[in-house]
Amino acid sequence: MNEVRLIYVSRMTEECDMRAIQDILAVSRKNNQARRISGVLCYDPAFFLQCLEGPRTDVNDLYRSIQQDPRHRDVTLLEYCDIEERLFSSWAMGFVLAGNVDRGILAKYTGGGKFSPYALTAQQARDFLVEIAAQLDGPE
Ligand SMILES: Cc1cc2nc3c(=O)[nH]c(=O)nc-3n(C[C@H](O)[C@H](O)[C@H](O)COP(=O)(O)O)c2cc1C
Repeated sequence: MNEVRLIYVSRMTEECDMRAIQDILAVSRKNNQARRISGVLCYDPAFFLQCLEGPRTDVNDLYRSIQQDPRHRDVTLLEYCDIEERLFSSWAMGFVLAGNVDRGILAKYTGGGKFSPYALTAQQARDFLVEIAAQLDGPE
């Protein structure tokens, strides 16, 4: 078992605007492909919720550099586990805007209130990302 899944949540900083997000996505897709990392990034105007899956040391190294990125803060681990199979193997980095997520799905994880990914359990975070990734058009 040399592959892991890592899910974290973070808060955007003022350095992060739409252009910065586009840069993050472009760099992620290029780097992750080269490192055989896949995953999904969900963003809402305040938070990031990201899942990374891939070879253990590559995911560890990437997480270390992500934690130091000034475009977000309060990086908090929700899940880190060994995996036999990936959940998001089709995406070098799938991207979902929380505002575009089906309201029924959001309500299930927010209790109808504001989206608060810091309050999610590991399982809820995983299930939420699986549900929203299923809405993505296809591999990117
Ligand atoms: C929320 C967030 C998610 C990120 N996700 C990734 C990622 O999946 N892959 C990646 O290579 N960089 C990601 N980054 C960017 C890294 O922090 C870092 O800037 C980048 O890996 C540096 O790549 P470079 O050495 O090729 O310039 C992310 C940054 C933020 C703020």
